[in-house]
Amino acid sequence: MKITMIGTGYVGLVTGTCFAEFGHHVTCVDKDEEKIKTLLEGQIPIYEPGLDTLVLKNTREKRLTFTTALADAVAVADAVFMAVGTPSSRRGDGYADLTYIFEAAREIAPHLQGYTVIVDKSTVPVGTARQVARIIREVNPAADFDVASNPEFLREGAAIADFMHPDRVVIGLESLQAENILREIYKPLYLQETPIVKTDIETAELTKYAANAFLAIKISFINEIALLCDSLGADVVSLAKGIGMDGRIGKKFLHPGPGYGGSCFPKDTLAMMRIAQEHGQNLRIVEAAVEVNAAQKAKMVKKIRDMLDGSEAGKTIAFLGLTFKPETDDMRDAPAITIIPALLEKGARIKAHDPQGMEEARKYLPQGIEYAQDAYETCKDADAVVLMTEWNQYRALDLDRLMEEMQGRIFIDLRNVYEPQKMKEKGFIYAGVGRS
Ligand code: UGA
Repeated sequence: MKITMIGTGYVGLVTGTCFAEFGHHVTCVDKDEEKIKTLLEGQIPIYEPGLDTLVLKNTREKRLTFTTALADAVAVADAVFMAVGTPSSRRGDGYADLTYIFEAAREIAPHLQGYTVIVDKSTVPVGTARQVARIIREVNPAADFDVASNPEFLREGAAIADFMHPDRVVIGLESLQAENILREIYKPLYLQETPIVKTDIETAELTKYAANAFLAIKISFINEIALLCDSLGADVVSLAKGIGMDGRIGKKFLHPGPGYGGSCFPKDTLAMMRIAQEHGQNLRIVEAAVEVNAAQKAKMVKKIRDMLDGSEAGKTIAFLGLTFKPETDDMRDAPAITIIPALLEKGARIKAHDPQGMEEARKYLPQGIEYAQDAYETCKDADAVVLMTEWNQYRALDLDRLMEEMQGRIFIDLRNVYEPQKMKEKGFIYAGVGRS
């Protein structure tokens, strides 16, 4: 199959590369000349484990190419995937900004030749694919095409594995011709019997939002339960095991922490709430999850303050990890962006380290943070250490060395990486989330 991917952001780049790895011929198009140049030179603008090797391999084998020339790429394609950004609108009302999607539709339309499926990969409000179809028809009434929705469920940091071994593939479409093309594209997954869930277009669009909203709810639920565990002296990790082994609940996404972040859950929960409101409904459980998530970050600030005897002023706090999760350099909506400035404002001295995210972090965090080379340098003279992101590098710290470097003994583990009892035995004043 000949596939053209519009947009070389996170989703476009990973999806395009993995399709090429499946054996298809993929052209990734982007308007950003600098980015295309970088990609052609074999450099990857984002940090995603395994992606560089796969890009290099498929570029060498001539199944993957990058260009700014949209017209030629669209003309030869069996399927054009749209993977452009849908950020929250600048109005701050939670709606997804569809400017890039509609712009892409207008640009694709005149160049379509022969039958083509236009596939929405971006997370878009229900009805967007139909609007895309309307735009294409307006611009090029003679075009022979169908639209489809094929939402992605990739996690940053694990995107290649998620793509190659998905739990399911959702395709929303209305024509057999489009279905045949999409089934052909995903054919390599048949070997591992990946289920393909075929729906109408609107259902596929909504499925994506519902999946992310459900996961966000699950995290907010366990975060609230963790706070209750803190109050009652119960242990949330054992509790999560106790409920998670029930197949109806499932053990994944029951890890409490400083609140979910990233480019998806915060944006998609808000967008879904707005979609529902437009249709006269309130998604009260989603609204609660969003509120709980904001409160969780504030509660983490309080937890740190309480551990420092009620005041962070003049104290040195060492942050291990800044990104919203490990194995990414992404700082979008990372809890660190809320928690660190709140402490800095009240006069704390902040030192920080992140294995991949420090360059990005500088763009999101205020001046005045001291960035260190490694975990131990970060903890030097610290009154308290806050383990913010569960990078592997922080999972087996040399605790004796850490304690030697520190001035105090407080260890606040916002990801519950360490065992409370062992930390206490080592001499730390330890707090996890829901592990009292
Ligand atoms: C999420 C979804 O997991 C993907 O399925 C989806 O495709 C993607 O959004 C998207 O819409 O593009 P991602 O944001 O990359 O993926 O990361 P997750 O692994 O889901 O983590 C999101 C946030 O939840 C992180 O801040 C993480 O620390 C937090 N989290 C996750 C918890 O606090 N506890 C958990 O148990 C799991």
